[in-house]
Amino acid sequence: MASPCESAPFDVARVAREFGTPCWLYRQSMIERRIADVSRFDVVRFAQKACSNLSILKVVKDAGAMVDAVSAGEIVRALRVGYDPRAKVPGVVYTADIFDREALDLVEKHQVPVNIGSADMLEQLAERGIRVPLTVRINPGFGHGHSRKVNTGGDLSKHGVWHEDLPALVARANELGYPISGLHMHIGSGSDFAHLSQVGDAMVKAALLVGSSVRTISAGGGLPISYRKGDEATPPIDLLAYFELWDCARKMIEKKIGHAVTLEVEPGRYLVAESGYLVAEIRAVKNQGKNRFYLLDAGFTDLVRPSFYGAYHYISIYGKDGAMLVGSEPAVVAGPLCESGDVFTQEEGGFVTTRDLPEAQVGDLLVFHDAGAYGAAMSSNYNSRPLAPEVLERGGELRLIRRRQSLEDIFRLEEPCASL
Ligand code: LLP
Repeated sequence: MASPCESAPFDVARVAREFGTPCWLYRQSMIERRIADVSRFDVVRFAQKACSNLSILKVVKDAGAMVDAVSAGEIVRALRVGYDPRAKVPGVVYTADIFDREALDLVEKHQVPVNIGSADMLEQLAERGIRVPLTVRINPGFGHGHSRKVNTGGDLSKHGVWHEDLPALVARANELGYPISGLHMHIGSGSDFAHLSQVGDAMVKAALLVGSSVRTISAGGGLPISYRKGDEATPPIDLLAYFELWDCARKMIEKKIGHAVTLEVEPGRYLVAESGYLVAEIRAVKNQGKNRFYLLDAGFTDLVRPSFYGAYHYISIYGKDGAMLVGSEPAVVAGPLCESGDVFTQEEGGFVTTRDLPEAQVGDLLVFHDAGAYGAAMSSNYNSRPLAPEVLERGGELRLIRRRQSLEDIFRLEEPCASL
């Protein structure tokens, strides 16, 4: 089947010229649009792990959404852009299965509400006498995601408090004097509606067990987007139906416990994936037997999702003048790393495949679409490759929001030891 033709909605050649390649580009308007899509929920809490650049957090904040934090670093990012953990609706909540020591210190210092994923976290709060609002992330015993690696429910998942252990946790929290003010469930990423819709019932059951201390429930994240285009695209999730399902769960809980309950949603991918693009340059074109390879200056050090999950990202290609190329010839798209898994066209399990793409030459620009979530955020310095710059586009204006890392930046933390 011929690939659908969808071009990147910005001047690709200009981005490459002004910022070099590889380079991330985000469109602010798309982030704002996606936040508006889910604004029926009382609170939209952005899972910043998807894209935690400070300027992106600022855009999210200005659009009215809160954030979660899964590490000390993410707490500090939230504070840096002005989120207030002590506000009535907390600007930032720490959600994790453990506290490392630094995170626990920050939670104490800034009074950050905590969403615990293990009973040990409760003990560690109590040991230090840290009194912060406490919610519980429950593993409802089932989960689902776009890959086994992102399924966060069921007995093979390390996440959340196992649903059958909730009564014991509630008893212990009462004993220690910690009212459980909310419940949270996140069964996985890129789930489908059928799976997401089962969570509401599990939430009602859990909330009734905890009782009247419950003031908030969170539907977690996991909302999917369609990475494929044209005929291959998956239909968008029915957000109204999704909200209504959760609203119904919320109303059932309110009726039983006799007071209002705030309904939160915690998407990462849905808010930022479609805003983001990775622009790379084709640096070599070669044939290996019957397969044509386009080798780029971006690798899995930049965008790891294809190598890690066999994830699909739509690709468009542009000539040096910026005109989009058309055509459909099978090619493998790979990166520069000294590692055979550094291939963007592969399926889960590491099977290299070809993609039907326009015929291209060295110097042409290749763009990965829908790369705003878990793109730059998952980049690394493997092979001593610097992190690529990030650029934010608003109304045609391009702003550098993270400069390209220099080699000196990478080496700064190291000293050759004396005996060398
Ligand atoms: N809330 C919690 C507690 C989570 O663990 C996650 C994602 C989210 C919300 C946001 O999930 P989302 O709405 O983005 O699906 N690196 C993978 C995704 C891993 C997600 C981990 N937790 C990927 O590139 O697909």
